[in-house]
Amino acid sequence: MSHAEDNSGTRRDFLYVATAATGAVAGVAAVWPLVDQMNPSADVLALAAVEVDISDVEIGTQITVKWRGKPVFIRRRSADEIKAARDVALADLVDDSARNVNAPGKDAADENRSLDETGEWLVMMGVCTHLGCVPLGNSSGDFGGWFCPCHGSHYDTSGRIRKGPAPENLPVPTAAFINDTTIKLG
Ligand code: FES
Repeated sequence: MSHAEDNSGTRRDFLYVATAATGAVAGVAAVWPLVDQMNPSADVLALAAVEVDISDVEIGTQITVKWRGKPVFIRRRSADEIKAARDVALADLVDDSARNVNAPGKDAADENRSLDETGEWLVMMGVCTHLGCVPLGNSSGDFGGWFCPCHGSHYDTSGRIRKGPAPENLPVPTAAFINDTTIKLG
């Protein structure tokens, strides 16, 4: 691209921005539908935080909720699952970080990933850290947790990567109990 073309492109961009700004000032109501249509994050913003009723989740099962356009696994782990996760030596883990935004800088011990002290509740993004497939749950894979069939990544009952190409543990998003039966994401 020549310098002249470059300048002309910049000027066009500037004119477009100036026009849009004038339009916004001239009539908010008229401009809003256009802005709404052009802004793909509008519905995402509306879902910045969601409250999830977990009162019907049985022990040993999980639900998947959509949050900010992505699946989130909320699992109510059985005693066996918790024990399996907590018995693992940190030295056996591929990724030694908790990957938990609620516990920044902590190691990947299960206690640093589960939502409550007993470890019954585990909340994490349902997005494989390899290339983004949604792993299968319900005690899948060689470590009884989740398995991503896309390229064969095995996660344990704490959602930590144990085998396969995925480089990191499944990340734990911002989450907290707001009462006994409600978890808030975001
Ligand atoms: S996307 Fe999960 S293993 Fe490749």
